[in-house]
Amino acid sequence: MANPTNSKAARTSQALSCKSIDKLIADSEDPTRRLKKTLGPWSLTALGIGAIIGSGIFVLTGTAAAGEHFEAPSLLHAQVLDMFLNLLHSGSISGALMHGRPPAGPSIAISFLLVAVACSFAGLCYAELASMIPIAGSAYTYSYATLGEIFAWIIGWDLILEYVVSNVAVAVGFSGYAKAQLAAFGLVLPDHWASPVYAQGHWTGAYFNVPGFLIVFILTLLLVRGVKESAGANNIMVMVKIGAILIFLVVGGMLVRPSNWSPFAPSGFAGIVTGGAIVFFTYIGFDSVSTAAEECKTPQRDLPFGIIASLIICTLLYVGVAIVLLGMMKYTAFGSGRAAEAPVAYALEQLGAHPFSRTVIVVGALTGMISSLLVFQYGQARIWYAMSRDGLLPKLFSAVHPKYKTPIWSTWIACFAVGIPAGLVDIGDAADLSNIGTLFAFALVSLGVIFLRRTQPDRPRTFKVPLVPWFPLISIVFCVGLMTGLTVITWLRFFVWLGLGLLIYIFYSRRHSEFAKQK
Ligand code: ALA
Repeated sequence: MANPTNSKAARTSQALSCKSIDKLIADSEDPTRRLKKTLGPWSLTALGIGAIIGSGIFVLTGTAAAGEHFEAPSLLHAQVLDMFLNLLHSGSISGALMHGRPPAGPSIAISFLLVAVACSFAGLCYAELASMIPIAGSAYTYSYATLGEIFAWIIGWDLILEYVVSNVAVAVGFSGYAKAQLAAFGLVLPDHWASPVYAQGHWTGAYFNVPGFLIVFILTLLLVRGVKESAGANNIMVMVKIGAILIFLVVGGMLVRPSNWSPFAPSGFAGIVTGGAIVFFTYIGFDSVSTAAEECKTPQRDLPFGIIASLIICTLLYVGVAIVLLGMMKYTAFGSGRAAEAPVAYALEQLGAHPFSRTVIVVGALTGMISSLLVFQYGQARIWYAMSRDGLLPKLFSAVHPKYKTPIWSTWIACFAVGIPAGLVDIGDAADLSNIGTLFAFALVSLGVIFLRRTQPDRPRTFKVPLVPWFPLISIVFCVGLMTGLTVITWLRFFVWLGLGLLIYIFYSRRHSEFAKQK
């Protein structure tokens, strides 16, 4: 009979086992499971921009600026940071804001800058690890090589929040904008088949949000055909959406009334931070560049370039959109209704912008959402592919299509995992849940950089984060700081999700992983 002390020690040591980086690279070279290497630096940058600019900038800018107010106070709506500060100051949480979020007003532009700075530190950490571990799987793979199997599982599971849940939100946003634009063309979709079934705590009477599902389904057909074709389509969509944003900056810029910029920060720094925790969603995606590591020609040089370049370009565009939009109308106008769902379209319409320019901008926004969906579906399939190759998920997830050389099952499963919820729920809290999962992944990646510098100081790094450990530590502080800007209910959902993942690890993954087989 096995000695219980020994078997407990063995379980602990398996949970903390790290994959060797050399083995990770060797595994990826297995000819039966190898992916095609087709991507260059600008395709990677386009992949990043394609993921980053989705529905967030077109939907959340207005709501974050306007704030949110619930009639009934609830601890679930309180920000975790606010709650702790109240507890520290007065020994009670009764002073915490439980009615919702304070408005950022035009200072949401500062929130965008603040979050960009936070993301840059995490981006540098991603770039270092991505350039030394050029393997599909993103933060999942990095944590397997640095922190151990249990952390790799947690992060891989957590990344589902970043990819699947955020894509649910983007697909629902797409449906709303598509419906509005088709209506402008005279084609009115029936609400029963083009609205969320469940929204803001109520059944709406709708049957299924078909456009939300359909767009994910069509993109899956493209992804299954192969990355080269998909990256080509993505490049075009990225150019279209950047063009549309630039047109908005010009058209909207002419409609700005400077008096709308005052008061600039109606809730002071608190509003800026709260706004940042919301608009963090708009930056999610720059890390997805690293999930393409196995499919790019010279990852050591091109990955850091792709991550940083896409981050800089998006920040410039976001700050521009925020300044123009909040100069066009008073921030209080974006609190609810159509103004909250589609602030850009609403402001242009209200201020009498030419219908042609409005159409160009909205179609560009829709294109942005499509390319974001495309990259996230792509990234999710690659993460499952990597987890399956390590035995943490069934082998089905790493099966490669014989002709197209793409992870066929992972791609289709990602289609239904996103498409079906997108047919049922509204954007609601999906963005917040996605934010907390992503921030957690960023913090672990930053931790991984510090660990790896100590445990493997001599391994070649074509890109190095300056001032280690300070930069990664700053990244961790930023990530945790933004996480505390989220609400209690978001934290609860996050813990439930992690608990569920842990159960799967204990009952399936731990028994099937490569390390279990070695034992
Ligand atoms: N960053 C993506 C968006 O804003 C998720 O839609």
